[in-house]
Amino acid sequence: MNRCSRIAVLVGAVAAMGAAWSLPGWAATEDVNVPADYKTRFVRYTTVDRADNKQVRDLYVNPEALAAIKAGRPAPSGTVIVLEAYRARLDANGDPVKDANGRYIKDALAAVNLMEKRTGWGMNYPADLRNGEWEYASFLPTLARSENRDMTPCLQCHLPKKDDDYLFSLAAIKAQL
Ligand code: HEC
Repeated sequence: MNRCSRIAVLVGAVAAMGAAWSLPGWAATEDVNVPADYKTRFVRYTTVDRADNKQVRDLYVNPEALAAIKAGRPAPSGTVIVLEAYRARLDANGDPVKDANGRYIKDALAAVNLMEKRTGWGMNYPADLRNGEWEYASFLPTLARSENRDMTPCLQCHLPKKDDDYLFSLAAIKAQL
């Protein structure tokens, strides 16, 4: 191999490595895990009934992030938001059953989705996909990591909420007593 073609091979290899690193959501998603104590340590700040997919969702945030956001500061590094998605209990017609307050009733847990923010995260995403320093991950009801590790849809759908730090429920966090 002459010198020129050796350089070409090297350049090609480096480019391939770069492509692997920039696979959407791959590397950093593996760093996001469900905190073992979130049910007891985190604050459940809102519950969302979703008519479109017949789900009830409980949203939790770690207390340090809640305090910062309520004080008017951005969600700090180390913020974790957990979304538990439950199937709504359905009646014989397949419609969600409502309780005395008109709210859906939880049935089985369907998935646990998570957002975590850390200083320096998100750098591998292209600008039109990156959600600041947030990373996304999805888990099965057993809390094992979901086999689908492509978090591109998460990033795409949350991207327009940029002015609210990519959060749909920022107002609900701020409204916590
Ligand atoms: C089609 C749009 C859409 C997609 C795709 C989506 N989300 Fe969301 N996400 C929402 C909406 C809307 C909410 C507000 C709560 C609700 O309605 O369930 C939300 C809320 C959240 C929250 C609570 C914090 C917040 O922003 O309010 C987390 C955590 C979350 N999503 C994680 C994920 C993960 C992980 C994925 C990908 C596996 C994902 N989301 C994909 C629309 C989306």
